[in-house]
Amino acid sequence: MCGIVGYVGSQVASDRPLDVVLEGLRRLEYRGYDSAGVALVSPEGTLATAKKAGKLANLVEELDLRPLPVSTAAIGHTRWATHGGPTDVNAHPHVAGKLAVIHNGIVENFASLKAGLEADGVRFTSETDTEVAAQLIARAYETTGDLTSAMASVARTLHGTFTLLAVHEDAPDVVVGARHDSPLVVGIGDGENFLGSDVAAFISHTREALELGQDQVVTITPTAVTVTDFDGQPAQARRYTVDWDAAAAEKGGFASFMDKEIHDQPHAVADTLLGRTDAHGRLVLDEIRIDESVLRSVDKIVVVACGTAAYAGHVAKYAIEHWCRIPVEVELAHEFRYRDPVVNERTLVVAVSQSGETMDTLMAVRHAREQGAKVLALVNTHGSTIPREADAVLYTHAGPEIAVASTKAFLAQITAAYLLGLYLAQLRGNKYADEVAEILSELRAMPDKIQRVLDRADRVRETARSMVDTKSVLFLGRHVGFPVAMEGALKLKELAYIHAEGFAAGELKHGPIALVEEGQAVFVVVPSPRGRDSLHSKVVSNIQEIRARGARTLVIAEDGDEDVLPYADEVFYVPQAPTLLAPLLSVVPLQVFACELATAKGLDVDQPRNLAKSVTVE
Ligand code: F6R
Repeated sequence: MCGIVGYVGSQVASDRPLDVVLEGLRRLEYRGYDSAGVALVSPEGTLATAKKAGKLANLVEELDLRPLPVSTAAIGHTRWATHGGPTDVNAHPHVAGKLAVIHNGIVENFASLKAGLEADGVRFTSETDTEVAAQLIARAYETTGDLTSAMASVARTLHGTFTLLAVHEDAPDVVVGARHDSPLVVGIGDGENFLGSDVAAFISHTREALELGQDQVVTITPTAVTVTDFDGQPAQARRYTVDWDAAAAEKGGFASFMDKEIHDQPHAVADTLLGRTDAHGRLVLDEIRIDESVLRSVDKIVVVACGTAAYAGHVAKYAIEHWCRIPVEVELAHEFRYRDPVVNERTLVVAVSQSGETMDTLMAVRHAREQGAKVLALVNTHGSTIPREADAVLYTHAGPEIAVASTKAFLAQITAAYLLGLYLAQLRGNKYADEVAEILSELRAMPDKIQRVLDRADRVRETARSMVDTKSVLFLGRHVGFPVAMEGALKLKELAYIHAEGFAAGELKHGPIALVEEGQAVFVVVPSPRGRDSLHSKVVSNIQEIRARGARTLVIAEDGDEDVLPYADEVFYVPQAPTLLAPLLSVVPLQVFACELATAKGLDVDQPRNLAKSVTVE
């Protein structure tokens, strides 16, 4: 939540700092888009700021009307409001004397700190917790005369989560940052250096990055990067090269990032599978640096995640339990630590997260480790916090996901979870160990099949466009189709603002069927007729039941399944696949549907209202 950019360069008196920061904010706008602002310090030491409620475009318009002076250092912020509504006044930066501050996170003890400052005669202009931090840093600077130590001393007193960046008139070529439970990465340039909430902030300028640790302060000048802890002691930060470039974070000819990311999915799955097998078809997941004896003795897996990532966890449950015979629980991360869960040293906790920064999931990771469990992170974003705090990480390789609602990360998470399940089966030598190579070969066929779903998506789009006035859509699925139905409903809610509910098809007659009336649109994810048991015929019966009550049935079925035809108003066929792998295909028409319907309603599919990409507050 909230995007943060910082820049210092050696080109004296140039427009580059502002240009770099605005470009960074454009790339980070997916993190929050309630308001945006910048602060610049000129070489002569003059601080200038501009900030506007609303999208970044409002700030750019303001800067066109009232240009700021050229500068050497700049910071910029795009906000997702927490304390104080999204107004011009509450937008960041916040100025205190000669200093400007931007902030991501929540300062939980701000009320008491504010009361103390007010008692000392400080007057506040905004309702934000950030202005409190700005006032405190300005005061500390008066004592120390050094921005880095002022930042560190204030960071020690703040509770909650924060990334703070500050610039000061007395230091025109310095930006100082601090992080606690909130992301901040450094971009290493040549005669210039960068700070960002994530590498997208500076990816078009450098791919060399420093991953800051927890509770660190960083000071950048055009030629140096210095990292300390909150006590001012020198600290280490890991240097790495970002493995994607600026083109990956552009729309590349698509109308939206969402559309592009939906079309990126064959690559997201293929890249997540890449390089993870040896010449004999055995899985080699060296990155899971948890002792094999520990993995062999695991007697329970708990997946912790939120939203779409949690639905990936639900799909994983079916696959891992089937292949490994280990019980798997899936728990919303924000519920996990508050219910005193039973986890111990024989529990493997799998934290699934695209951003690697979701605070609820991070807190669940900490709680699990405190109970002695091993934690494996399935994460997409390198340099993020969750992998740093987990015992090991299995990265998904979906590339940067810019649209706020998750699509390609979901498919990559499911793929990585399959790899984990197969790896555990291989390691524990159970009955599926011999079939790992065979299942992997099915998995390797999935990117082409996903592409085939995308190639035939025109019917889905036409249907979506015909439904712009729809007020409610239900989604039904069974077995792995159940989490797919939940995900289809979530996509429609968040992109098209249409009421949508996902149900287990078997649950229908226990209540939800009461919702079905004439014209009610219902998507049904039908399992393969080639699958085991009689699931297919049960779901076909469900379609008949809702059709008989007037529902408009929109069916996702496997190629060749003619049983659904008599009861379906629309059928969207997907290629045949083993039941457990089918979610990688059946969710795609649902993503396309939500994206197209929202677009047809004239909505911004990349930045839906009220949402932020990376939920870094609890
Ligand atoms: C929905 C969506 C969210 C995220 C959730 C977890 O489209 O994107 O539900 O899946 O906020 O985010 P990560 O995966 O970053 O932990």
